[in-house]
Amino acid sequence: MSTVGHTKRTTPAAIEAMKGTRPIVSLTAYTTPIARLLDPHCDLLLVGDSLGMVLYGMETTVGVTMEMMIAHGQAVMRGAKHACVIVDLPFGSYQESKEQAFRNAARILKETSCDGVKLEGGEEMAETVSFLTSRGIPVFGHVGLMPQQVNTTGGYRSLGRSEKEADKIRRDAKAISEAGAFAVVIEGTIEPLAREITAAIAIPTIGIGASAACDGQILVSDDMLGLFNDFKPRFVKHFAELAPMISKATEAYAEEVKARTFPAVEHTFQPKK
Ligand code: KIV
Repeated sequence: MSTVGHTKRTTPAAIEAMKGTRPIVSLTAYTTPIARLLDPHCDLLLVGDSLGMVLYGMETTVGVTMEMMIAHGQAVMRGAKHACVIVDLPFGSYQESKEQAFRNAARILKETSCDGVKLEGGEEMAETVSFLTSRGIPVFGHVGLMPQQVNTTGGYRSLGRSEKEADKIRRDAKAISEAGAFAVVIEGTIEPLAREITAAIAIPTIGIGASAACDGQILVSDDMLGLFNDFKPRFVKHFAELAPMISKATEAYAEEVKARTFPAVEHTFQPKK
């Protein structure tokens, strides 16, 4: 049996090799049908723990579990044939020790067949990243704004304006790159700093709220599709307005059901003549 070319999906190594070629296209995906639609256009699909907020209505990502990540990782893998699929390690599944991180990352890889895991953290996670990558687990880093740390960092705001903050993000990105990650998300970080880090480190930077200076971009797909009416952060662009379309369609459906105009004859089963 050959172990060469076992997947047609883009590998983490191929994502790493894209640095300096063209911008890397990535989005989050949580379900099979959405993964199928996004897959042909994306280099990387992230089963982000943002699913806790986007799909489950949680206030933060802290309550997301391994079971949720595995179930959605499996769903996305059923729909993705081309993009590299990465699954987030949820809060509490990797911070305790590098051994805990390996155990949970290996479980995600085994149970979903995804291509790698993402974890949040900089210098303090470098040893863990090195432990995982040297044992066969591709790691996608995540520095700058780290949503899993919202309870200690005090909320969602852009970072890097003070020299102290900038220096921390700089050191974090360098540590994660040198520890062997194949790419790193830079979230909520001012443009000049994202540009400087992108030039300084060997691996691709994937920005979210970190400017076009990064090697690639990621957005929460529900944000990109305009599925939320209520709040649009500055870094989000709606490439469609699905929320009002869904409201209008549902209103039309409700009217037709009440008027008994749906289902019409063509939607019903009749005895054969
Ligand atoms: O959980 C997530 O969706 C993420 C991305 C937005 C980077 O971490």
